[in-house]
Amino acid sequence: MKLIGPFRQVITLANLPLRGKLSDEQLEIIEDGGILISRDKIQQIGNFETLKSENPNLEIEKIEGTQIALPAFTDSHTHICFGGNRANDFAMRNAGKTYLEIAESGGGIWSSVQHTRNASEEELLETLVERIDFLIALGITTIEIKSGYGLDVENELKMLRIIKRAQQQTKATLVPTCLSAHLKPRDFEGSNQQYLQYVVDEILPKVKEENLAKRVDIFIEKSAFQPDESKVFLLKTKDLGFEITVHADQFTPGSSRIAVEVGAKSADHLEATIDEDIAFLAKSDTVATALPGASLGLGEKFTPARKLLDAGAILAIASDWNPGSAPMGNLITQASILATFEKLTTAEVLAGITFRSAFALGLEDRGKLEPGMKADFVTFKTNNFQNVLYNQGSLKAENLYIDGMKIK
Ligand code: NIG
Ligand code: FE
Repeated sequence: MKLIGPFRQVITLANLPLRGKLSDEQLEIIEDGGILISRDKIQQIGNFETLKSENPNLEIEKIEGTQIALPAFTDSHTHICFGGNRANDFAMRNAGKTYLEIAESGGGIWSSVQHTRNASEEELLETLVERIDFLIALGITTIEIKSGYGLDVENELKMLRIIKRAQQQTKATLVPTCLSAHLKPRDFEGSNQQYLQYVVDEILPKVKEENLAKRVDIFIEKSAFQPDESKVFLLKTKDLGFEITVHADQFTPGSSRIAVEVGAKSADHLEATIDEDIAFLAKSDTVATALPGASLGLGEKFTPARKLLDAGAILAIASDWNPGSAPMGNLITQASILATFEKLTTAEVLAGITFRSAFALGLEDRGKLEPGMKADFVTFKTNNFQNVLYNQGSLKAENLYIDGMKIK
């Protein structure tokens, strides 16, 4: 067994509920704490000196200087496998152009599809691994990554295979999701329903065969797929054995209801969710995921995180890092900003980027420093954990541990 410490504070997030609002008084803070590790799991958290005296023959990993430790973070929604860049979309939006005008002039998701299709596998892998490393440097050890810029059999499989190759190059956990239902590609001859059927018939069986993803996502929106056809599609994917997540209520309400009805693991975005649907989500086990990076990238309102928590929903916070609507990628900055606008407690934000976002991915073995949990944790050089969010992302993570091993 190995004892790591002493830390000025260890914030365990132990005993916090999965759903609903949290007060900061509920946070367990172990002063002068130590983290006792057995193999790749947390054995015990407690006072460093006490743990040391109670357990002779320990390997001790001494922490120098003043540091605090938190469970490592989970980013449960990203699109970080892509070619090209959409800086021109960003500039045009800010100069007053609408989404439709930008799409018509060659921008939008379709432009990322063309860049991704044209990029070589090596190029895509290299930039994907760079983005993974950026997220790891923030203290994130579990990262969901979507396809969705290929939009045909060959290129969707290409994206998912690259995500699988990236997993061989990192100790972080990558969770791939098939988002072939991002948009009907311009070169598909047929209706939306026919394209969705093509995804079911041609893409998903191969995804399954090669074990490339266990999750399916869809963008339900006026400009993408309509509610009824989406529901039919999602029920078919469920029959094929996939878990479901949905891009819901980004601009138009109504689709989070479908996510709940089909038993989705999460409904993400929710910027336009109406009160009635907040109540519906709050009664379900579907995680409501706020994506403040998309609000900041588009200049749109934030997800009603406060209302969702007050109603009893499971609220996760993720980066949505993508070349179009959310180019920043800094989940800590985004979560801190969401807290100031939505009035979220520190406990609610930390829960939203740890065990609640991990739950959205079906991973219940991480995000809390409790006995038996995966020993993934991040440290910061500070004497007070509140400084992590207070500094809005500018306080950099110091060290990062995955399965009890220091990787940074
Ligand atoms: O989550 N809303 C749809 N999909 C992405 C944007 C993808 C893009 O613009 O490239 C999102 O915001
Ligand atoms: Fe997204």
